[in-house]
Amino acid sequence: MKSPLLFAALALSLCLPAAPVGRAAEPEHKKKAEETELGNTMEKMNGAWRKLKKQAGDATNNAASLALVATMKACAEKALTLKPARAEDVPAAGRADFVADYQKDMKEFVSLVGELEKAFQAGDNAAAQALIQKMGAAQKEGHKEFKRPDL
Ligand code: HEM
Repeated sequence: MKSPLLFAALALSLCLPAAPVGRAAEPEHKKKAEETELGNTMEKMNGAWRKLKKQAGDATNNAASLALVATMKACAEKALTLKPARAEDVPAAGRADFVADYQKDMKEFVSLVGELEKAFQAGDNAAAQALIQKMGAAQKEGHKEFKRPDL
């Protein structure tokens, strides 16, 4: 695929609201406790993330890496509009703060994705790899703080 625009369009389409295809077909006992729109968005981000981590150091893959970053960006921006399921477990008085904290951290994550995009555009693979480390730490923190322990 030669056109970066086509790449971007395809990448964005990867984060459109998903029909729950995959898991709906799973047997009942294998299903996770709950399926959420945020969870589905995260799953899509995860697909791009896993590939990106493998190829981020390889400058010959930068065009493909930018397409993966576009998918991550679309998913992270969508995640910003959704609330963690765990918000329901927080006492009502603290819920708005919990969601605001989540949004603040997700916003920071979106800006890391923006920096990563710039690094690949500049062909700076060392910077890209450093950003990927930071994003991995943000993922770990975000999950510890905002994900339900059983999700
Ligand atoms: C590299 C970045 C990230 C990846 C690849 C990623 C991936 C995932 C995956 C695979 C799940 C499980 C989905 C499921 O089982 O349904 C998940 C759930 C979740 N993630 Fe992430 N995540 C990332 C970053 C973050 C960040 C930065 C935050 C918070 C600021 C976050 C918050 C959550 C929450 C709250 C859930 C539970 C879904 C729900 O409450 O409905 N994630 N993520």
